[in-house]
Amino acid sequence: MTDLIDSLPADRDLTDDEWRFLIEGEYDRQRLFDRADRVRRQYYGTDVYIRGLIEISSFCRNDCLYCGIRRSNAKAERYRLSKEEIYACCAQGYELGFRTFVLQGGEDAYHTTEWVEEIVCGIKEKYPDCAVTLSLGERPREDYEIWYKAGADRYLLRHETASCSHYEKLHPPEQTFAHRMECLRNLKEIGYQTGAGFMVGSPFQGTGDLIADMRFLREFQPHMVGIGPFIPHHDTPFSNGSPGTLEQTLTMVALTRLTLPHALIPSTTALGTIHPEGRELGLKAGANVVMSNLSPVAVRGQYSLYDNKICIGEEAAECIECMKRRVMAAGYQVAVGRGDHVRMRQ
Ligand code: 5AD
Repeated sequence: MTDLIDSLPADRDLTDDEWRFLIEGEYDRQRLFDRADRVRRQYYGTDVYIRGLIEISSFCRNDCLYCGIRRSNAKAERYRLSKEEIYACCAQGYELGFRTFVLQGGEDAYHTTEWVEEIVCGIKEKYPDCAVTLSLGERPREDYEIWYKAGADRYLLRHETASCSHYEKLHPPEQTFAHRMECLRNLKEIGYQTGAGFMVGSPFQGTGDLIADMRFLREFQPHMVGIGPFIPHHDTPFSNGSPGTLEQTLTMVALTRLTLPHALIPSTTALGTIHPEGRELGLKAGANVVMSNLSPVAVRGQYSLYDNKICIGEEAAECIECMKRRVMAAGYQVAVGRGDHVRMRQ
């Protein structure tokens, strides 16, 4: 079976038994990580793309059972950045060398179609050499179209789990799996570089669910895939759950690289939260993107999806320096530029 690792990426779907072995079998994981790193180097060399993350609102109309900013969490501190504050984050980020700005937030009703359209236009006008990534959740197709026309380049919407029955255990009935998937299909059809992704070790997740994630990625072919361990948040129904493990998360990062050799795969903050060198290890297991926080330090701690989140105290300038050091120590270098998907270069 270990020959299987050397045969990846495969030009066929793997069997259930093969997936099961790769995901939960007992074998030398380092071989898998090395294989994923080799494949990543074929397409992206040792470049690591850096993104400036701006967490624009912690208000959310959704009630995902795992998430600290779910609407039922009355203890969550809520904030919303003004347009001026967002522009100030971009200005600082641009100075520091960022050429992608990721606007991420809870599903905040204050963010009307026009409000988002205006901020996207504003950023693209000021920084035509930058990419804008939106991560604002599920919206009508028309919103996605308008924002794309306004200049948004990419959209992140993790599928969270590709198994409908598992999705239903993580979300209230009004948040449907079918709608999540419809949004993802719309984004891709419209032309966004589209990001899917899932949590590893979320409550009720079994190996069958992770196999479904891999098969979904193979079929949907997203440009980006965000993968992080589930980490409990103390004010959610899953506060007593156990976090996803480092090994399991790295395994899924590596398998994602071997399923989608060209993908942009971030080494996530959640991975850095469960292990001091989590992000470095993620890069060595096939990830090729890191996100650095540009949100104002005053609100950083309030964007609290899970407990013990790292990087909530440093100013943006310190964050990027720390990130560059870590990327270099892992044997890679931070690349300047937008860092587009290899098949979506402009
Ligand atoms: N642990 C890890 N990741 C989480 N997310 C939300 N809550 C948690 C948690 N408790 C992830 C989801 C979401 C992204 C913005 O953050 O996958 O899509």
